[in-house]
Amino acid sequence: MIILGIETSCDETAAAICSEGKILSNVVSQQLIHSKYGGVIPEIASREHESLLNQVVDHALLEAGINLEQLNAISVTQGPGLAGTLLTGISFAKGLGLGLRIPVVPVNHLEGHIFANFLAHKTLEFPFVCLLVSGGHTQLWSIENMGKYNLLGETRDDAAGEAFDKGARILGLPYPGGPEIEKAAKGGNPTKIKFPRSLLSKDSLEFSFSGLKTSLLYFMDDFKETKSIELSDVIASYQKAIIDVLVEKVNRALFKTGFKTCVIAGGVAANESLREELNAVLKSKEIIFPDLSYCTDNAAMIGYLGELKLRYGKFETIDFSVKPNLKLI
Ligand code: KG4
Ligand code: ZN
Repeated sequence: MIILGIETSCDETAAAICSEGKILSNVVSQQLIHSKYGGVIPEIASREHESLLNQVVDHALLEAGINLEQLNAISVTQGPGLAGTLLTGISFAKGLGLGLRIPVVPVNHLEGHIFANFLAHKTLEFPFVCLLVSGGHTQLWSIENMGKYNLLGETRDDAAGEAFDKGARILGLPYPGGPEIEKAAKGGNPTKIKFPRSLLSKDSLEFSFSGLKTSLLYFMDDFKETKSIELSDVIASYQKAIIDVLVEKVNRALFKTGFKTCVIAGGVAANESLREELNAVLKSKEIIFPDLSYCTDNAAMIGYLGELKLRYGKFETIDFSVKPNLKLI
């Protein structure tokens, strides 16, 4: 089976070709236009998707050496995401699917992030814990099988990705903030400033990042760079405060479930310091990360999951609509 995956839930226009669980191409066009606004402007994002989709899909087909007539199905992100951008992708997918007379499979973006871990780790087995850390979500899941998920805990306010993005804005760094903070933290001393770690109660698997962001805001109000405290120290300390909380909660979730494996999913999984810290602190556990190209939003995960859904016959018919607030369960 050859399947075209399409992803337009936010500001990445992405298409990928997947066949028998293998990714033949994975094309992502990140809309750089939003960085000057410090965040994604939904109306601009929809229009960008509209003008980019054709060429991104063409590029994915060309790179995979596949022509349109060889496609057996299309899968597309149904939600969660921005209503307008999702609609652009779904309309494109349906139009193409109807023209080619092939099925169009709606895919949950969050489930896509989780399943991206199977792409690089073919031997990954259920059950496992999943830390889902993206721009809109910070959740811990117990993943028992495909479609059998239990929420262990989630954020009460900002997502971890949001803590990176909002922190970057306070620090005068561009959007998206995660990679910018990671870069600017290099060489800084992460123990220099004691930013708060909100661990909530002793056994809690919930998160809270809004206090940390406020604390950075107050700190920066009267911060002056000196020899003893440099901006890179502040940024490294801020990043470490986010990471420490994520690592501690993963540890607790593994203890609570008794599972041996935790997979990390979503854009924040690209963070190298998070990877190092998880591996260092949880040495006796198996911590799995997707390849870097499958961490942030991409269509490979949508194609891969679409193929699985088709194989197991678990998908809606073509009259499905966008679900901007779609949950994992
Ligand atoms: O999964 P994703 O691409 O989109 C959503 O579904 O939200 O995640 C985007 C988030 C943004 O908040 C971005 O700042 C963060 O992932 N991110 C990172 C890194 N790369 C992306 N955060 C920390 N370190 C990174 N290297
Ligand atoms: Zn995402």
